[in-house]
Amino acid sequence: MPEEYILKVTDVSKSFAGVKALNKVHLEIKPGEIHCLAGENGCGKSTIIKVISGVYTMDEGVVEFSGKQYTEITPREAIMNGIQVIYQDFSIFPNLTVMENLAYNTELAEKKKFVNWKRMREIAQKAAGNIDFKVDLNTLVGDLSVADKQLVAISRALMHGAKLIIMDEPTTALTKKEVTALFKIILDLQKQGIAVLFVSHKLDEVFEISERFTIMRNGENVITCNADELDDKKFSYYMTGREFESKFFEPANVSAEPVLEVRDLSMENGFYNVDFDLRKGEILGITGLLGSGRTELALALFGLHKTDSGTIMVHGKPAEFTSVQKAMKENIGYLPEDRLTEGLFLSRSIADNITVSEVDNLTRGAGFWDDAKRQSEVDKWVADLKIATKNPENAANTLSGGNQQRIVLARWLATHPDILIMNGPTVGVDIGSKHDIHETLHNLANNGMAIIIISDDIPEVIRNCSRVLLMKAGKITGEVNPREISENQLAEMMTSSDAS
Ligand SMILES: Nc1ncnc2c1ncn2[C@@H]1O[C@H](COP(=O)(O)OP(=O)(O)O)[C@@H](O)[C@H]1O
Ligand SMILES: [Mg+2]
Repeated sequence: MPEEYILKVTDVSKSFAGVKALNKVHLEIKPGEIHCLAGENGCGKSTIIKVISGVYTMDEGVVEFSGKQYTEITPREAIMNGIQVIYQDFSIFPNLTVMENLAYNTELAEKKKFVNWKRMREIAQKAAGNIDFKVDLNTLVGDLSVADKQLVAISRALMHGAKLIIMDEPTTALTKKEVTALFKIILDLQKQGIAVLFVSHKLDEVFEISERFTIMRNGENVITCNADELDDKKFSYYMTGREFESKFFEPANVSAEPVLEVRDLSMENGFYNVDFDLRKGEILGITGLLGSGRTELALALFGLHKTDSGTIMVHGKPAEFTSVQKAMKENIGYLPEDRLTEGLFLSRSIADNITVSEVDNLTRGAGFWDDAKRQSEVDKWVADLKIATKNPENAANTLSGGNQQRIVLARWLATHPDILIMNGPTVGVDIGSKHDIHETLHNLANNGMAIIIISDDIPEVIRNCSRVLLMKAGKITGEVNPREISENQLAEMMTSSDAS
């Protein structure tokens, strides 16, 4: 018997206002398969999903559900064929209970006017039970954690005899622990014969779970293959069309004298007795799990947290870090963990965001911008950091996460800091941007900047730091040379509970 696909997409195209978002896309999924749909932001992943689920109509092409052909699909037809989509926002209603949310889709599928709540409750309990999701069905969904909201969405999908569950970037807002829990659920679904189409552009997680890959670029297929035919390097190449050499940071000229000396620094409920030096030309990694004190330490070094005891010296002189202004006077730059709320003025232009910290430099008396000077400064940073924009006067929120992070970096570099502290420098950025940001950091360090990277992205820390401090429960528990340790060893050191 020929293997039947649950889903077979053939030559599907779709344009928005004349711009082709999908060009003859194909995608094939077998029963019980865990399939990863990968590609950079804007390559068309969500669009193809919306075509499959009947949200968008296709311009051309055919979609087959278990052999049944469609050129037009209604949302109801998709559901009746066992296709369930878990969108990035989960499409749930925060002000309704778990039960009401679960019932919602059933009504759509069965076109019922009246809901038999008793029966519904039984089905809901069973669906939640299938993924071992323990929840009070009367809880308001708005009160649940992100991970639990996702479980509500998955339970709902299971109530309709789902054969294929499509998850659009399901790990975006999850912690590592929640991602692990989600992967376990995906494997359980597979055991029940349900296929999962997992949409992601995150290199570190896709290999953990996926058996087959379909990779897209610019609305077109690049390759479909088995997991064992791919590695990190090929995956990045197929996604971006660029070849990356992942270079280890080679410190070229580390100063003899430290620029920053931290001695016995403590902050209640944050970190204790922290000691370290930082030299010009170094990239110092500080790693640890969430709650290890790594972020509190970073904030204290930028004057955003008041410390209780200890000293900080900059260029050999005692420095006070009691405010951001004081930290900036010492020529320290800080890139926050959450650039969207702390780092960027999203509705302001890219140019404004780059130049906002240079007001003094770029204005002529009475606060008027020196337009020519401002323009050349903006052009320089757009070029240096390869910010992908046709017009820097466009709003910052028109750019992808990776390009937004480049803007935040440009802004700080424009102030010519001696010390740059980056908290989660590449969280949520695409592979190409990640690579470019790392390369920029290597160059900055080798040109004399002292850099601290705070990150729990282990490959990032190993490849880009000259030394790594490990934090646990507010204390620095060790220092490692990233050349002498494997990713697994560092991961183990991070998570092991014994104080080393
Ligand atoms: N409703 C829409 N109207 C106009 N353009 C859209 C719409 N949805 C998506 N696009 C465009 O189609 C392209 C693919 O987007 P999308 O499928 O969301 O990408 P991905 O999910 O891979 O990040 C992008 O260029 C996006 O701007
Ligand atoms: Mg998307």
